[in-house]
Amino acid sequence: MTNAPDDSTRDDFKDYYEGVKGRPPRPTLVQAAAAFAAPGFAVDLGCGDGRDTVELLRRGWRVLAIDSSEEGVARLRRRDGMLDNTALKARVARIEDTDWPEADLINASFVLPLLESAGFERAWARIGARLRSGGRFAGQLYGPKDGWAGKPGMTIHDRAAVERLVSGFIVEQLEEKESDEATARGKPKHWHVFHLVLRKP
Ligand SMILES: C[S@@+](CC[C@H](N)C(=O)[O-])C[C@H]1O[C@@H](n2cnc3c(N)ncnc32)[C@H](O)[C@@H]1O
Repeated sequence: MTNAPDDSTRDDFKDYYEGVKGRPPRPTLVQAAAAFAAPGFAVDLGCGDGRDTVELLRRGWRVLAIDSSEEGVARLRRRDGMLDNTALKARVARIEDTDWPEADLINASFVLPLLESAGFERAWARIGARLRSGGRFAGQLYGPKDGWAGKPGMTIHDRAAVERLVSGFIVEQLEEKESDEATARGKPKHWHVFHLVLRKP
């Protein structure tokens, strides 16, 4: 029996990028960026084809965009005005295996649950360590009622686990949401998502 890739697969995001083409930036990223008096340096983890990265650049931020998908990073670089944009650096790498400079904002939209648990723990520790004091994290975690919970290689957090993870931060948003919505590839899914905006004291 073959294991056909499904929407949570970590290696083939081509259909995903097609599905999200032209979509606006994530509200968590917009909230975090808007909370700064002036733009600074941001790292966009799991940037995909750049829906959040381009918003940060539009707002005057310098951005290091990181994604494990060559296709995602190539699509980001092909976006209008990106090739000669000196405020953008992009890197193909796995979040759990790479390091980045200290940042004012670290964004990780809908990607951290795709790391297996040891990788997630490494990445979460690094996010905390690489945020400047007063810096912000924006991103999502998935809860146990999510349709992808239990899939091998993913990391799921219940409410208590999320509260432990955020305990060292000032919580500017911790919103737990459940919904039934098609994925970017058009498949039905139950979503159980924690939306986070956190500030490092
Ligand atoms: C669901 S998409 C989210 C893309 C974008 N952040 C957004 O909100 O639309 C997940 C992205 O994370 C990337 N990704 C998955 N696992 C990763 C990992 N371990 N390290 C870096 N990127 C990863 C995928 O290639 C994909 O571009």
